[in-house]
Amino acid sequence: MDFKHYLQVLKEHTPYDFSDYSDNSINRRIQKVVADNNLSIEELLDKTRNDKGFIERLVEGITVNTTELFRDPELWPNFYERIFPMLKGKKTFNIWHAGCSSGMEVYSNMILLHELGLLDRARIYATDISANMLRHCKRGSYQYQFNKKQLSSFKRVLKKSPINGIDDIDFSKYFDIDAGNDKIIAKDFLRNKVEVRQHDLVKDDAAFYNKFDIIFCRNVLIYFNAKLQSKVYQMFYNQLYPKGIMILGNHESLTGFYNTKFKKSGPVYIKTNAFNFKYQ
Ligand SMILES: C[S@@+](CC[C@H](N)C(=O)[O-])C[C@H]1O[C@@H](n2cnc3c(N)ncnc32)[C@H](O)[C@@H]1O
Repeated sequence: MDFKHYLQVLKEHTPYDFSDYSDNSINRRIQKVVADNNLSIEELLDKTRNDKGFIERLVEGITVNTTELFRDPELWPNFYERIFPMLKGKKTFNIWHAGCSSGMEVYSNMILLHELGLLDRARIYATDISANMLRHCKRGSYQYQFNKKQLSSFKRVLKKSPINGIDDIDFSKYFDIDAGNDKIIAKDFLRNKVEVRQHDLVKDDAAFYNKFDIIFCRNVLIYFNAKLQSKVYQMFYNQLYPKGIMILGNHESLTGFYNTKFKKSGPVYIKTNAFNFKYQ
């Protein structure tokens, strides 16, 4: 069966619509889910119509969940060079991590906010299409050995490029370490700070009524086609306060029309004016 036809079946029988994801990876990923579950076409269609647990696993199989603590470590000082001056004058501010996966980006950001004395003023929201990833985000429990390397590499970056004078972080303030079970677990004050919510960026409904000072959406839109990307940029534009900041992934950039709605400053995009309109 043609995968485009399968995506239509999925759209009709489930809340999920992947028809505007970019073609090249999604076909391969559907085939992998089918092979891993040893399914015939009839079984695939039957499970798609009737098995909610299978659909949750399928969503995880179709989407890419890769993430890291302080992913692209050298970019964080650049982000904060732009973010910090904007946030330090505010009494409260809202940050949304859209497509947060297991939450490593969210904890990385909360750690830097805490180091800078800003965490108490922050409201932190994290959304993802996958309920399982959100449970993981709320648990804040990650592999120790792998992340030890990530944290060391971020420490090296900080030494070279301090963030507002911070050139080292004692990560034991933020994680309990269970080396025997190869685990680090975020401390409660961080885990309790983040509000997680299941939200599908494909859908028209906004995730929140409130507006945001910063929206992180890194390494998510790269899997969407240009039409769907534009729709999400417009939604982010509407959800940001004037001069709000949007942060995309290292290999993602705005093109065409949306370059006039956001001004690029280093690795971040700043909303240029308060003119709102509806994406057609
Ligand atoms: C590669 S991870 C990126 C995680 C993190 N932002 C980072 O850069 O490390 C992409 C995440 O986007 C989520 N995602 C994919 N499609 C989505 C959608 N339509 N709505 C919300 N989240 C989506 C996936 O479930 C996955 O957790």
